Amino acid sequence: NQVRHYNFDVEYIFGAPDCNEHVVMGINGQFPGPTIRAKAGDTVVVHLTNKLYTEGVVIHWHGIRQLGTPWADGTASISQCAINPGETFTYRFLVDKPGTFFYHGHYGMQRSAGLYGSLIVDVADGEREPFHYDGELNLLLSDWWHQSVHEQEVGLSSSPFRWIGEPQSLLINGRGQYNCSLAAHYSNSSTNQCNLKGGEKCAPQILHVQPKKSYRLRIASTTALASLNLAIGKHKMVVVEADGNYVQPFAVDDLDIYSGESYSVLITTDQNPKNNYWLSIGVRGRKPNTPQGLTLLNYLPNSASKLPISPPPVTPQWNDYNHSKSFSKRIFARMGSPKPPKFYDRRITLLNTQNKINGYIKWAINNVSLALPSTPYLGSVKFLLNHTYDQTSPPENFPSNYDVMNPPANPNTTSGSGVYRLNYNTTVDVILQNANALAANVSEIHPWHLHGHDFWVLGYGEGKFSSEDERKLNLKNPPLRNTAVIFPYGWTALRFIADNRGVWAFHCHIEPHLHMGMGVIFDIDGRNVKGIPNEALACGATGRLSVNGMHH
Ligand code: C2O
Repeated sequence: NQVRHYNFDVEYIFGAPDCNEHVVMGINGQFPGPTIRAKAGDTVVVHLTNKLYTEGVVIHWHGIRQLGTPWADGTASISQCAINPGETFTYRFLVDKPGTFFYHGHYGMQRSAGLYGSLIVDVADGEREPFHYDGELNLLLSDWWHQSVHEQEVGLSSSPFRWIGEPQSLLINGRGQYNCSLAAHYSNSSTNQCNLKGGEKCAPQILHVQPKKSYRLRIASTTALASLNLAIGKHKMVVVEADGNYVQPFAVDDLDIYSGESYSVLITTDQNPKNNYWLSIGVRGRKPNTPQGLTLLNYLPNSASKLPISPPPVTPQWNDYNHSKSFSKRIFARMGSPKPPKFYDRRITLLNTQNKINGYIKWAINNVSLALPSTPYLGSVKFLLNHTYDQTSPPENFPSNYDVMNPPANPNTTSGSGVYRLNYNTTVDVILQNANALAANVSEIHPWHLHGHDFWVLGYGEGKFSSEDERKLNLKNPPLRNTAVIFPYGWTALRFIADNRGVWAFHCHIEPHLHMGMGVIFDIDGRNVKGIPNEALACGATGRLSVNGMHH
């Protein structure tokens, strides 16, 4: 096994992700950041230097469990102190299993500002993937706003509330086209045909393939908001991996991917080799106001400037939730994958509601909107600094008479920083319960992401979770994931084993929703974590301890 070293300098750079020049967060002058590539069993070491001048930074390695290294999880206020301007923090962690992952900022809304990149883990030497492919293509999907992230943050925390709106562009590997379309000539709409020569920062990254071969597409979504649907003209995709776990292969024409998820699909380039084909991404689950993101599957030796004969695939209707549900419900663990324990030790039901605090719009979980403390939880839990965060645990459930089909009868909620304390090595069930938002007839999609662990997705259902639903849970071959969606007015049931000591976030991966409090914190025997580096603790109450020389 190897140790893979990276030096990352985070700074603001000028970029034109969608042909419009704006300030974007870059790493080593690049946007998106450099791809990290390692083999299972390797140790990744990233020396992260903050060159932002006026704000802190951290990076989260999304999907990497951080076994035994909870301080390297890269979550500000949770696993570590934000890295100050001019300072360097070293992340050192094991990548224990192969898969498609990514990394992103986890302080304020820095992910929305463009702080992200791919992290790919290949099988260990001497091992083989359980499927064959001749080549590989990597697609990191995101959405992009022209308004600065600072303006977005202020708007979201203002009264009256100012929503960020729909993204201006969808990006594939950091590239999209605003105010023009690569495919305008197929329609008689008023959109201009893009006039790109290929060298532009917003020119699509063409996917070059040889005919009659098989390719693995690694697809990850780090969108701030958008749920996406991806399709390739004339090509079926066989889904083989989800969030770094093998799934029972199944074929689809298009796939839905929510923020925080990743997939691998296999395609065969068995179509007419004289043509090129469109790959498109479009918005799901919200009334779209953003054009499709496009790139080309270029069959060599055709020129990449040869446009496909048919227009890009059409994204399913944004509110065709049955389409999305049927995709999610087709995902099962590959045979031979670990099965969940038959019983749970503890079940926590989390009601997702939109609420108000003194006129400010928030998201709340069991009537608590998460407010992160100034001293990161991990140090506070480890050193018993009980005054730094709320000592009462948030509720395990919500009142049984709560009507999930209507706006909250009492929209007012509370904010808090309490944690759920989970006993080490116990089996925990989480029922994510969706509900109606503040406006009537509105219930949104929320992709929930767990840090430090994978969970089994035991099932999805409609309305309020009931004892009848209980009997229908899949304990036979549920997929392991780190992100799972709740559909409008529905529930999703998850199970995991709390076997990784630390303090971990579990939250909606929609950036503005997390900013508005949509998350909870799990303390899994953080008191007994050993070896937290001092640099992770150099702020708040743990910082004062270290000045007094009390760390070990
Ligand atoms: Cu990818 Cu806590 O997030």
